[in-house]
Amino acid sequence: MTGSNAKQVYFSAECVKIVPLTKEGDGVPRRISDDMIAKICDENDIIDYVSQYVSLKKSGRDYSGLCPFHNEKTPSFHVSREKQLFHCFGCGASGNLVQFVMRTENLDFVDALKLLADRAGIIIPEDDGNFSDANHEKKKRIFEMNKCAARFFYQCLKEKSIGETARQYFVKRGISWKTVTVYGLGYAPDSRDALLKHLASKGFKTGEIVEAGLAVSREGKIYDKFRGRVMFPIIDVRGNVIGFGGRIMHDNKDTNGYKIPKYLNSPETPVFDKGKNLFSLNLAKNAKAADIILCEGYMDVISVYQAGIKNIVATLGTAITENQAKLMMRYANEILICYDSDEAGTKAALRAIDIISDAGGRSRVIRLKNAKDPDEYINKNGVEKFRETVNKAVPSTEFKISLIKKQYDTTDTEGKIQFIEEVVKVFEKLKDAVEIDAYITKVAEDTGISRDAILSKYREKTSKNTYRRIPQKTEYQKKAERRNRENTRDLKATGALIEAEKRLIGLISQSKKLYKTASRELKAEDFSTDVYRRLAKSIYECYDNGISPDAAMILNDFGGDDISEASEVFYNLEVYNGDEATVRELLYTIKLEKLNIRINSETNAAALARLFTERERVLEEKNTWEE
Ligand code: CTP
Ligand code: MN
Repeated sequence: MTGSNAKQVYFSAECVKIVPLTKEGDGVPRRISDDMIAKICDENDIIDYVSQYVSLKKSGRDYSGLCPFHNEKTPSFHVSREKQLFHCFGCGASGNLVQFVMRTENLDFVDALKLLADRAGIIIPEDDGNFSDANHEKKKRIFEMNKCAARFFYQCLKEKSIGETARQYFVKRGISWKTVTVYGLGYAPDSRDALLKHLASKGFKTGEIVEAGLAVSREGKIYDKFRGRVMFPIIDVRGNVIGFGGRIMHDNKDTNGYKIPKYLNSPETPVFDKGKNLFSLNLAKNAKAADIILCEGYMDVISVYQAGIKNIVATLGTAITENQAKLMMRYANEILICYDSDEAGTKAALRAIDIISDAGGRSRVIRLKNAKDPDEYINKNGVEKFRETVNKAVPSTEFKISLIKKQYDTTDTEGKIQFIEEVVKVFEKLKDAVEIDAYITKVAEDTGISRDAILSKYREKTSKNTYRRIPQKTEYQKKAERRNRENTRDLKATGALIEAEKRLIGLISQSKKLYKTASRELKAEDFSTDVYRRLAKSIYECYDNGISPDAAMILNDFGGDDISEASEVFYNLEVYNGDEATVRELLYTIKLEKLNIRINSETNAAALARLFTERERVLEEKNTWEE
C-alpha cells in the first residue's frame, strides 16, 4: 500500500489489534460454505470496517475519503453501505469488504473471511471435527491477555523512570521510536510480579496467565516469565499477538552472576507454535515483494526493516520448518536466506535450502562479508551496501557447490575426484533437467573433468531414482499465462462492446425479468471477457436457482486483477427503472458490435457479403422495434 494510513493503525503498539483465531494459521485454505460466507458478510459492515483505515465522510448516498490504495489529496475513494462495495474513481480499486480486507491486510480469501468472522464473533465450524468451543474461548482469552501484556510492556518502556534503561538500550542499538511503535516493542520490568498484578487487575486468573506462558510457577510460587528484558511481541498475519521474545539488556549474567539466556521466548501455548509462525511476517507480507529475506534474529529483522527493506522475517529461535517455508511461499516466489556468517549460520542455511526445496520452494543465499549478522552489516555498511549484497544472492545450488569446493583442493587430482563425488550428491536433489545440465557444464569447466564423466557419475547415483519429479508451475507463472491467453482472446472486443456488456450485466443483476430477456439472446459464455463470462454465469445461476443475485457475494469468486473489472460493473450501476428498453437497446448494440468486429477481420468476400446482409437484417429489426 502506498500512502498507507492503514499500516499505522494496524501495528502501532497502542492499538495492537486482537483478532481471535478460529483455527491455527496452518496456511491450508479450507472451503467455507456459501451460507457461512453470506453470514460473515452480513454481520460485518463495510463502512465500519473501512472507517478503521479511511476517514470517511458522507457524500450523497455514499461515503468518501482518501483512497488507501494510492496517494491522493482529494477524496475519490467511495464506499457504499447499500451495496457493501468500495470503489476508487482515481485508481480503479474496487470490490467488496472481503476484498478490502484481502488487500489491506494482504490475506488470502479464507484468511480474510476468518478475520471478519472473528470480528463478528462468528465461529466457522471446522470440517475436521477437532474444533471445540472451549478451545476457541481459550484462544480468545490468550489473545486478549497477550494484547494486554504487549500494551503493558510498551507502557513500561514509555514510562519515564521504569523504561529509562530499556529506552537507552534501543537507542544504543540504533532503534528509533518510530520502529518501537511499528513493532510494538516494550520492556518487562525487573520485578517478580509486575505483569501478574497488571493482568490480575484486568480480570485474568493466575492459571490462565501461566497457560499463556506469561508467568511461570516455580517451587509453588508464581513469577512473571519475562523480567528485566526488552520485549518483542510476535504477531501473526492476522494481527494477533501470539507470543513474545525477550532479550536481556546487558551481558549474559544476571545480578547473582548466573548465566542466563540472552533471549527468552514464550513457550508453546494453545496459540503459539514456533514452527508455524515467523517474526514480522505480518509486516513483510504488506511489502508485496517478489521475495522474502529470511534471517535468524529479531534484531536483524528490525534493523533491516527500519532501513526500509520490509520483506524480511525471522524464525522464532528454532530451525526453519517446512510449514514456515510454505507460509513464506504464500507471499513470495523466492526465499533469500540471510543467516549469520559463522559456521552455525552456514550449516543452518544448508538445512534451510533443503527444507525450502522439499516444501516446493526456491531459495538463494545472501552472503554477508565482515559482519556476523544482517543487523551488524547494515549498521556498519548502510542500507545501500546491504541491498547490493541482497542483489548478489547466489542460487542455492551454487552456494552448496562453493562450500564443497572449500573443503577440497581441486588443483589436486584426488581432491577433484572427491569434490565431484560430493557435488553429484547436490545434483541429486535438483528437479530441473536444464539446471542439472547447466551445473554439470559449470563444474566440468571449473575442474577440467569431462562433462561425460560427471554425467555418468550422476547417472550412476540416480539410476535407482527412475522417477524424477517435474517441477510444478508457480501460481505466478500460471497467472501470467492465463492473462496472456485472455488478452489474446479479448483483443478484438471494442470499447463499445465492453461498455454495453458491462451495463447489461449490471442491469440484469437487478431484475429477473431483464435476465430472462437477455439470456434468451446471450449465453453466459457469449460475453467478451473472462470476467464478464464468469459474472454472467453466476448471475444466471442465481436466477435459475430462484435466488436474487447479490453483488457483494458474487464478487467473492473473483481475485487478483479481476476484482476491479468485476466490481466496476456493480459499483456504477444504472438503476433499473422497470423499463426493458435499455436492455433491448444494449442487446442490439452487442449484436451489432460483434458483427462489426467480424466484418473488420473477415477476408473472404463471400463470408463478408453474408455478414453485411446479417447486419442489414439486425439493423432493420432494431428500427422496427424502436418504432
Ligand atoms: N535465540 C533464542 N534464544 C537464545 C538465543 C537466540 O531464542 N538464547 C533466537 C532469537 O530468536 C534470536 C535468534 O535466535 O533473535 C538469533 O540469535 P543471535 O544471533 O544470538 O541473536 P541476535 O538476533 O543477533 O540478537 P542480538 O543482536 O541482540 O544479539
Ligand atoms: Mn545480532
